[in-house]
Amino acid sequence: MLKVKNLEKIFYKGTPNENVAINKIDLTVNEGDFITIVGSNGAGKSTLLNSIAGVFPVDNGNIFLDDEDITAKTEYKCAQKIGRVFQNPLAGTSPEMTIEENLSLAISKSNNLSLKWGLSKHKREIMQKHLEKIDLGLEKRLTTKVKLLSGGQRQALTLLMATVANPRLLLLDEHTAALDPATAIKIKNLTAELVNSNNITTLMITHNMEDAIKMGNRLIMMDGGQIIYDIQGEEKENLTIEKLLKMFEIKHGGKFNNDRMLLSV
Ligand SMILES: Nc1ncnc2c1ncn2[C@@H]1O[C@H](COP(=O)(O)OP(=O)(O)OP(=O)(O)O)[C@@H](O)[C@H]1O
Ligand SMILES: [Mg+2]
Repeated sequence: MLKVKNLEKIFYKGTPNENVAINKIDLTVNEGDFITIVGSNGAGKSTLLNSIAGVFPVDNGNIFLDDEDITAKTEYKCAQKIGRVFQNPLAGTSPEMTIEENLSLAISKSNNLSLKWGLSKHKREIMQKHLEKIDLGLEKRLTTKVKLLSGGQRQALTLLMATVANPRLLLLDEHTAALDPATAIKIKNLTAELVNSNNITTLMITHNMEDAIKMGNRLIMMDGGQIIYDIQGEEKENLTIEKLLKMFEIKHGGKFNNDRMLLSV
């Protein structure tokens, strides 16, 4: 359902600082795939997701979503079909708006006609049901301004907002990295639950090798702007952190260099 063909992204092209962040990547993502993405610092993980989300124009290649060429689409246009959650818990929500205003905006983005309601009581009930799923008591705080929430509560709300609109694709970029360990576990569980119950095709960058191995059905390792491993099925089930680090060293010709990743091993 997502096809990336011969994708290239070069920052500062034609200057002494030229930097090939994505180096001719080909990737086919199947409907329902939950792909975890790992790699060294500067490997091009975020740039790949940003390219798919239309954050900046790419230099070469094409991106197809459901056979539609979205390569030149703007971030705003892509957002109709692509949900995103970033590392920064402050990024995905509007602080001055209430929980219900934020969630309502996200739901109205959805193409799901059954959610095009008129009655505000009905609307509130639906929002409360969604919020109950994240189990943080937010269903009782619909009129609280989002700026008053903790980082974890805000990230849970962002995740809910990104999935409630039934996106064709969900992009997660280290979305639990800035949270304390206990909250991070909650958000990871919530991620698995929301992705699985809605069967959302997902690409998740993580610095946690264990999560990358445990979560999803497919694991991609990036290095130097390329995909160096694409592991699924039995091979993924039998993966260990040690194996993964060895595999990296074989292709890279040196030790793995992602500080956050190694700290969390
Ligand atoms: N907006 C940008 N402008 C200029 N250079 C950028 C930009 N975004 C990324 N880069 C460069 O592109 C390369 C790939 O960066 P990217 O952020 O994709 O790496 P990453 O794999 O996400 O790394 P990390 O694990 O540190 O988040 C890096 O050399 C980075 O400096
Ligand atoms: Mg990154």
